[in-house]
Amino acid sequence: MTKTMIGIIGGSGLYEIDGLKDAQWQSVETPWGAPSDQILTGVLNGVPMAFLPRHGRGHVHSPSTVPYRANIDALKRLGVTDVIAISACGSFREDMAPGDFVVVDQFIDRTFAREKSFFGTGCVAHVSVAHPTCPRLGAACLEAGRDAGITMHNGGTYLAMEGPQFSTLAESKMYRESWGCDVIGMTNMPEAKLAREAELCYASVAMITDYDSWHPDHGEVDVTEIIKTLMGNADKGRALVSRLPALLGTDRDPCPHGCDRALEYAILTAPD
Ligand code: ADE
Repeated sequence: MTKTMIGIIGGSGLYEIDGLKDAQWQSVETPWGAPSDQILTGVLNGVPMAFLPRHGRGHVHSPSTVPYRANIDALKRLGVTDVIAISACGSFREDMAPGDFVVVDQFIDRTFAREKSFFGTGCVAHVSVAHPTCPRLGAACLEAGRDAGITMHNGGTYLAMEGPQFSTLAESKMYRESWGCDVIGMTNMPEAKLAREAELCYASVAMITDYDSWHPDHGEVDVTEIIKTLMGNADKGRALVSRLPALLGTDRDPCPHGCDRALEYAILTAPD
C-alpha cells in the first residue's frame, strides 16, 4: 500500500481547489526547468492534493510553451500518485454538447513543437501508450462528475493539436468524419505520454466549450463564446474535484493496470 496524493492539472478557467486545508503555494525546481507556476498543496477530506494551473495564474503559457516535462516531474517530486488533467476542449459530436464533460481514453497526437519525452541521449526507453489513461482513475472521475450532477461521457478520443490557432473547417471535418475523433484540445499531449513515463496514473477530463468549426448551426469557434461556457464549466470542474478524495481514498494498491510500473520493461540502455 502507498499513500494517495492527487495531482490536479487545471486548464483554462480552473485556477484553484475549493476547501483545501493547510493550503500553500510551493515553488518546485526540476532538471527540466520551472513548472508553469507554483503548486498549491494541501489536504482535502484527509487526502493530500497538489494543484498546478497548466497555463500559470494569469494564463501566461500558450499550449506550445507549457513546460510539460517540468510540470509532470514537479508533481512526481511532490509525491503525487494520481494525476487528473482537466482541460477545455471542442466537440466533434452533436451529443457531446458544450457544458458536458468527457472522460477521455484515447488520443491522436498531432502536436509537433514540444518536448515529448524524459528519455533521450544517455538513457533510452520506450513505454507503451496503447492505453494512455488509467481506467481506475477515469472511473473515479466519471463517478465524481455524475455525483456532482454533470453530464458525463464515458470514453472518447481526443485530438491533440498544436494550436494556438483553432482548426480549419477542412481539418475539423477530417478529424470528425474520417478519423472518428470525439473532442479536440491543445494540451493533453505530450502530458499523458510524460505521465506514463513518470509512472503516474493519468486521467483526462475534457470540459466541452464549443463545437469546433464543423457544426453547421454553430459557425466558427471564438474565444468570447469559449470563455462564457468556461465560467460554468469551472464551477462544475471544482465540484468534480471536491468529490475525488472520498472516491480514491488515502491508501492505494499498486495500479491494477500497471501505470505505476510502466518503465519495468521499457529501458533499453544497459546499466553502468
Ligand atoms: N479548446 C477549447 N475549444 C477548442 C477547440 N475547438 N479546438 C482546440 N482547442 C480547444
